Amino acid sequence: MRAIAKSGDTIRLTTRVGLSMTQQLARIAIIGGTGALGAAIAGRLAKAGYPVILGSREASKAVAAAAQMSDSLSAGTTGATRAITLQGMDNRSAAEQASLIILAVPFASQEATLKDITPVVHGKIVVDTTVPLVPPKVMRVQLPAEGCAALRAQAVLGAEVTVVSAFHNVAAHKLATDADIECDVLVFGDQRAAREQVIQLVEACGLRGLHGGALCNSAAAEALTSVLIFLNRTYSVDGAGIRITGELTPPKAD
Ligand SMILES: NC(=O)c1ccc[n+]([C@@H]2O[C@H](COP(=O)([O-])OP(=O)(O)OC[C@H]3O[C@@H](n4cnc5c(N)ncnc54)[C@H](OP(=O)(O)O)[C@@H]3O)[C@@H](O)[C@H]2O)c1
Repeated sequence: MRAIAKSGDTIRLTTRVGLSMTQQLARIAIIGGTGALGAAIAGRLAKAGYPVILGSREASKAVAAAAQMSDSLSAGTTGATRAITLQGMDNRSAAEQASLIILAVPFASQEATLKDITPVVHGKIVVDTTVPLVPPKVMRVQLPAEGCAALRAQAVLGAEVTVVSAFHNVAAHKLATDADIECDVLVFGDQRAAREQVIQLVEACGLRGLHGGALCNSAAAEALTSVLIFLNRTYSVDGAGIRITGELTPPKAD
């Protein structure tokens, strides 16, 4: 059963499949939620029961993407006990209405997009997924002057916003399926508690999330993506990933 409530340029689709969750999960906005990575993360989080808002520069595009995703998720869900709640709206409205924001836009539009949402994300966590790829040489590491894309995000958003970075090394087309993915997700940020929240989201997506340390360490994962793209081409890999080996114990304090 699907309930649709429409007002202005936003649409909310709630598909109830079985019982609703008792736990109140944070509302997540995906800025660039119509794109490859954003839509894939959105789909996995929505299936895990998170209320998700897809953001776009064009509200109507986000509305259409949310409707399509809601239909396809509910078609593929059998006997689940969670409500799938997806909304679509413009990027700034999405960021305003969410308590945690995931940025998933190309490096070239990272700064402009962050400036657009800055007024509405004070006091919130913004998860930056940006890999600083500079076409056409995407197989070469080209980190920005700030040190990495995540530090750039923090500089643009200012100290009132907690930037965490993650998802750099996961192939979006794999995340878009229900398959298990052989890839760990390294999570970076200067506040351990914020990293912990993002690790929970990573786990809700069916991946292992690991503390990667301070936000500046994001440079390592961002750079690694160019190496992974090189490996994909050189060895004909369909989306190489990374794995941290060794037996891990529960994480210690920083
Ligand atoms: N794809 C992957 O496998 C992957 C893996 C790890 C990390 N990443 C990182 O995740 C981010 C998103 O990657 P993606 O592959 O999902 O990108 P994408 O599909 O090319 O674009 C994502 C969304 O960004 C918005 N966008 C595109 N051009 C824009 C512009 N000039 N200004 C503002 N918004 C623009 C579009 O949304 P609207 O048109 O709806 O506004 C688009 O749907 C990138 O930084 C990438 O490095 C990607």
